[in-house]
Amino acid sequence: MTMVAPKTQHVARLSYQDKTIDLPVYFGTDGPGVLDLQELHKKTGLFTFDPGFMSTASCKSEITFIDGEKGILLYRGYPIEQLAEKSDFMEVAYLLLYGDLPSKKQKDDFVLSINKHTLVHEQVISFYRGFRRDAHPMAVMVGVVGALSSFYHDSLDIQDPAQRHIAALRLIAKMPTLAAMAYKYSIGQPFVYPQNHLSYAQNMIYMMFSTPTAPYEINPIWAKALDRILILHADHEQNASTSTIRLAGSSGANPFACIAAGIAALWGPAHGGANEAVLGMLEEIGSIDRIPEFIQRAKDKNDPFRLMGFGHRVYKSYDPRATVLRQSCHEILEELGIKDNPILQLALELERVALADEYFIEKKLYPNVDFYSGIIFKAMNIPVSMFTVLFAVARTVGWISQWKEMIADPMQKIGRPRQLYVGKPYRDYIPIDKRQEEN
Ligand code: CMC
Repeated sequence: MTMVAPKTQHVARLSYQDKTIDLPVYFGTDGPGVLDLQELHKKTGLFTFDPGFMSTASCKSEITFIDGEKGILLYRGYPIEQLAEKSDFMEVAYLLLYGDLPSKKQKDDFVLSINKHTLVHEQVISFYRGFRRDAHPMAVMVGVVGALSSFYHDSLDIQDPAQRHIAALRLIAKMPTLAAMAYKYSIGQPFVYPQNHLSYAQNMIYMMFSTPTAPYEINPIWAKALDRILILHADHEQNASTSTIRLAGSSGANPFACIAAGIAALWGPAHGGANEAVLGMLEEIGSIDRIPEFIQRAKDKNDPFRLMGFGHRVYKSYDPRATVLRQSCHEILEELGIKDNPILQLALELERVALADEYFIEKKLYPNVDFYSGIIFKAMNIPVSMFTVLFAVARTVGWISQWKEMIADPMQKIGRPRQLYVGKPYRDYIPIDKRQEEN
């Protein structure tokens, strides 16, 4: 894909000391304009300072659009609500990768090409054996996905579009297999091979829960719920893990190594690790009567406790993925007949109390996608340590689409931010016998 250089529409004037410079302002298809600061340092000697990238567009992209104020999320222009209701994960994966919804034939061919790559090299099994059984599956995933670079030498040349494409298919196809293996290893059960007649979500469930000793029937409610969760998590613009992948990829690192870096970034509780943290929090709260105490703690500036699964850097009205999942969550609990599960009851009550609380209303802290996905995963008996792994499985499609877009962009450069240095000024080396201990 070739990207068209943005057209200058406006200019912003910046004065600093005796210099005045004009900075081009660009507008994309939608969303706020951006100030082009590429010449800032050359012309003024200044860097920009934007910790947490609160005001920084790190790249241009055609993949995903978010309007945080209005609660809009589009994949290649299509609203997430429509995709979640009418599409399926393989179609969404095609859309993110190639830019348009597939025809029937294109979709069938795509599913075939994914299915061709669902197996992992048998020697990958040796990697699992090196991990402790109680290793967190995210730790295992960081390791084994990175290790794929040592198996697929024929898809490491990032200058070759065909190799980039095969790497993308391999990653999407192998993630469920690797994820299920991480789970099976943790419980000491034999690995289950993928079944290519199953859908992506069905296969994930089958490989996690079936055993060679008995036939296994996939619960259709689970499969539908997982497919929807996969769609909703497939991409999310330039979040922490995607930015990590772009930064790692900007140095020319291979795609398997880049995705491993993304998995590591996703693991944190402020990002994808939140779905696991939601369950940890619910268990800590323990019972409905303790909710007020924890709401109080979440508001206390001197207490590090936060309501996990609430708030978002970009969405300041509501998270449209959460709106879709909230409805699914209530339906699934109903369909599965487990509305009375105490942890799930606690979650729903916490949601009710927080949504009515002044602090959360004023700060625009709404339940995010991880709040509801955590509850749904719990209802599906998915072990808590696997929650973020499933997020990583879904997000691999977005990550690899973003990585491919970046590598194909002729304007692509190594990512190299600068800093505001606040350490010691220049000082001369002091021999050890002349040094005084500083307090
Ligand atoms: N509970 C209590 N207070 C909160 C919470 C929360 N979950 N989130 C934000 N706040 C408060 C925060 O203390 C701050 O208050 P003040 O203005 O008085 O200092 C204000 O709201 C703004 O918070 P922030 O940390 O400056 O906002 P941010 O944009 O840097 O952080 C966030 C966004 C998602 C990291 C944060 O809301 C959070 O930690 N939430 C809990 C973790 C979570 O659910 N993460 C999943 C995000 S969605 C999926 C994903 O990205 O993977």
